[in-house]
Amino acid sequence: MERELALEIVRVTEMAALASARWMGTGRKMEADGAATSAMRAMFDTVQMRGTVVIGEGEMDEAPMLYIGEQLGCAQTPELDVAVDPLEGTNILAKGLWNAMAVVAVAPRGTLLHAPDMYMQKIAVGPRAKGQIDLDAPVADNLRAVARAQGKDIGDVVAVILDRPRHRKLIQDVREAGARIKLISDGDVAAALNTAFPDTGVDILFGTGGAPEGVLAACALKCLGGEMQARLVPEDEAQLRRLQRMGISDASRVLTMQDLVRGDDAIFAATGVTDGELLRGVRFLGNGRARTHSLVMRAQTGTVRLVEAIHDLNRKPVQAGQAV
Ligand code: FBP
Repeated sequence: MERELALEIVRVTEMAALASARWMGTGRKMEADGAATSAMRAMFDTVQMRGTVVIGEGEMDEAPMLYIGEQLGCAQTPELDVAVDPLEGTNILAKGLWNAMAVVAVAPRGTLLHAPDMYMQKIAVGPRAKGQIDLDAPVADNLRAVARAQGKDIGDVVAVILDRPRHRKLIQDVREAGARIKLISDGDVAAALNTAFPDTGVDILFGTGGAPEGVLAACALKCLGGEMQARLVPEDEAQLRRLQRMGISDASRVLTMQDLVRGDDAIFAATGVTDGELLRGVRFLGNGRARTHSLVMRAQTGTVRLVEAIHDLNRKPVQAGQAV
């Protein structure tokens, strides 16, 4: 993929963030998601690529746009897989809490796992602990390995976990191992991303969250030299059949980084909608101006760009606040 594409992709996440930030704290998560989705969709039409949505807003019959299989872009090449989460953290945004983001990843056609909308068990770390984790090992072993890799005591290690009843045993195991915990209400893409940035104060992500979010997080960690391991968690016969149709006959298999994102060519971009540990949220500055804070990275080179942009909303070819 041409490196210029990275800038195009971050323009897409900026536009989705600007559109959904208008809904911060309104309690109206569907409207916020709709605004992000239509702004993102409109912006994709300006990008020189032939993209196919593999992680999107749902199946064709359940989502009006950015549905799985939808074609994006205004050129015939490059042919790409596109993974989107126009508003990662709909509940977060509705309440004005931390870490809502607009997220996109692109990779050469056929290289991203086509993860269906089901749960996924995940473990993720930043580059310093790459190669040290094992999804099937006891929690304490993983924590000890991460502590060792980072030259820390186990009591210095912080595990980030979605605050859900299903994680009761996991939380107990982390506490018994002597590590500390950051419980989050939502947003495990940001949580996985944060493990690669020591300043954010988290070292390892454990737990079960969305499979689409898992693939997006894996793209980010591929760019950052970190690691994720995962396992799809089908909850009923219909989900099992879905996996079989996708060619995944053994749902219990551990998915490695190569299964989640094949090869070494991926671009990941995220723009903060609300404030987070890594990215600041959208600020409306008055007089039609707004500031965004984004991260855009390429796996090929490992370059991490933090992009701050000031937008004149009256002069945008695609309007961020357009119809939902
Ligand atoms: P949405 O943006 O779709 O609301 O997802 C937020 C999220 O917290 C993800 O980050 C996470 O992977 C998933 O939901 C967890 O699912 P659940 O809320 O069902 O536990």
